[in-house]
Amino acid sequence: MKNLIFRAKIRVCSDKELNQTEKNLIELVKEATFRAYAPYSGLKVGAAVLLANNEIISGNNQENAAYPLGSCAERTALFYANARFPDVAVEAIAVAAWVDGDFLSEPITPCGGCRQVILEAQIRYNHPIRIILYGKKKIYFVEQITDLLPLNFSFRS
Ligand code: THU
Repeated sequence: MKNLIFRAKIRVCSDKELNQTEKNLIELVKEATFRAYAPYSGLKVGAAVLLANNEIISGNNQENAAYPLGSCAERTALFYANARFPDVAVEAIAVAAWVDGDFLSEPITPCGGCRQVILEAQIRYNHPIRIILYGKKKIYFVEQITDLLPLNFSFRS
């Protein structure tokens, strides 16, 4: 028997170590959390997608009384970005979350479904997507989605 061991690189940094574009992205993400519709969980999540044409599309989680029908912030933002600019590669996505009157201290990390959707965009445009996960105490900076989704599923017939 042999073990498969996966390595992932995640940079842990403070907002001072981000460049100006990344700082702006975080500010837009924080604003986007306040427009979330999360009456059931109380967790307001914001996401912002930076495109190769420098457009920034933000979104947030949208819940529904029939729980599975809701959408995470990452998917809301990414699908809207792809809907508006289908030919433009995604450069980066940033995420933050707010609960009980404050931003989370630890970075929020995307659910498995959103990781799969980010992977699809990375493959679709053949371009690595940087992922910036905001927490008050620290920020995780990931160079591409495969670091968060080893042994992922991708298929083309
Ligand atoms: N949620 C997101 O929007 N993004 C994540 O990365 C994790 C979870 C949302 C889904 C649901 O509306 C709420 O947070 C609680 O799970």
